[in-house]
Amino acid sequence: MAREKTWQDLIAVSELFRGDATPVVFGNRELAVFDTVDGITVSMARCTHGAANLCDGYFDGTHIECPLHQGLFDARSGEAVAAPARVKLRMLQSRVLNDMVQILI
Ligand code: FES
Repeated sequence: MAREKTWQDLIAVSELFRGDATPVVFGNRELAVFDTVDGITVSMARCTHGAANLCDGYFDGTHIECPLHQGLFDARSGEAVAAPARVKLRMLQSRVLNDMVQILI
């Protein structure tokens, strides 16, 4: 039987790079926490095109540019918006509660 998902603490908002991407390791998962202009989002950190960690790329508040081949993703939806990135980023459901970023997992 599948385990029911629960909200888990990920990182305090005060520990995030403001307006940028923050790498967070959660168990065996490498995650990226984005402080976007529309709020905080969380995705898997690895680019869907190669092995780059997107947190090493340039983030402008909405889009993250992969540091390896400059593929571009919308950090709010995960959509791949510029080649060579074609596959959407896997986003995790997230929320902020009492200054803590949480993920539903
Ligand atoms: S590894 Fe990210 S675009 Fe190629």
